[in-house]
Amino acid sequence: MPYKILDSVVNSLDNEKYNFQIKCSMTNTQSTLNWEDSVPVTQEVEKSKPHINEQEQEQLIQRIKQVLSEQNAVLVAHYYTDPILQRLADETGGCVADSLEMARFGKENPADKIIVAGVRFMGETAKILSPEKTILMPDLNATCSLDLGCAPEDFIPFCDAHPDRTVVVYSNTSAKVKARADWVVTSGIAAKVVEHLSRQGKKILWAPDRHLGTYIQTVTGADMLLWQGSCIVHDEFKADALMALKQKHPDAKILVHPESAYTVVEMADVVGSTTQLINAVKFMDAQTFIVATDNRIFYKMQQAAPDKTLIEAPTGGAGASCTMCAHCSWMAMNTLQGILNVLEKGNNEVTVAESVRVKAYESTQRLLDFAAANS
Ligand code: 13P
Ligand code: SF4
Repeated sequence: MPYKILDSVVNSLDNEKYNFQIKCSMTNTQSTLNWEDSVPVTQEVEKSKPHINEQEQEQLIQRIKQVLSEQNAVLVAHYYTDPILQRLADETGGCVADSLEMARFGKENPADKIIVAGVRFMGETAKILSPEKTILMPDLNATCSLDLGCAPEDFIPFCDAHPDRTVVVYSNTSAKVKARADWVVTSGIAAKVVEHLSRQGKKILWAPDRHLGTYIQTVTGADMLLWQGSCIVHDEFKADALMALKQKHPDAKILVHPESAYTVVEMADVVGSTTQLINAVKFMDAQTFIVATDNRIFYKMQQAAPDKTLIEAPTGGAGASCTMCAHCSWMAMNTLQGILNVLEKGNNEVTVAESVRVKAYESTQRLLDFAAANS
């Protein structure tokens, strides 16, 4: 079920009240590593891809299908990847999913080899859960600003300084950060896990996404200390421009991924993981949707509800930079050619040191067990 923001929360939170009402502690924690200068621009990533015509594309697809089957390999793709990869995963018995389902699928599928079309933490999660399988990624440079912004050398001492708190980390983190955590969560289940822990009287140390943390704190009322990371794609959605767009489409429902800023989240009719947002398009009794998340998700939304109208939430407005323009540059690094290369050469294997993996397995498996018991 998508988390629908409570009307009372929507109505009672404007920016000033919001600062007053949120009970979680804001810290100035963030990674000391300077990674911001090397963030790729999505349009440049797209432009750097070799141009291939339809016939060449079809040949590539046929070759990949053949090699996948010869190698007993399966393709697992995130909703933010190029629709052509999503189609290929669907057509070859793989899966197109959110982070939670990607993890679950990779673990349960009998393939010897998993090709993860997504970002680094997704490949690492597959390795953490299935050490006996070979995990390959089309491009190992495909990472995530949340992962980069939560370096283990900063995060581990931060946890050590707060021994009274249960450490809950979002799956968009490195294996070392997961190894230090008590729980790993994804956006689809984070609020349920935190609610469960809060009911047991636990205080939470949350990392790395401050926006998701703020949202969860608001819906659960839990005591949360927040790491100050953010997703640079969702950070680009701006409330003022969204408000103007909504005025032009008053009947449209607003769907928001909770990695967006709280000023955007509070305008939403539905807040949820990628799968939950796709389900909202499919099941909600509305014709038009404004969608605040990576626009490659439109492929699955359109498949789920071909007659409905989807509008991209604006990345313009005050303070906007549009480096990503509603499409994650790291997700854009996944290509057909990249998939064929790793299958043929066996390179770009994802590895996780066994001492780290064993610890990260505990916190990640806890998520899968909780999801199985609470779905
Ligand atoms: P989901 O788990 O909702 O697919 O989110 C993953 C992600 O990276 C969103 O930016
Ligand atoms: Fe990370 Fe944001 Fe890209 Fe998702 S969209 S992988 S959170 S940078």
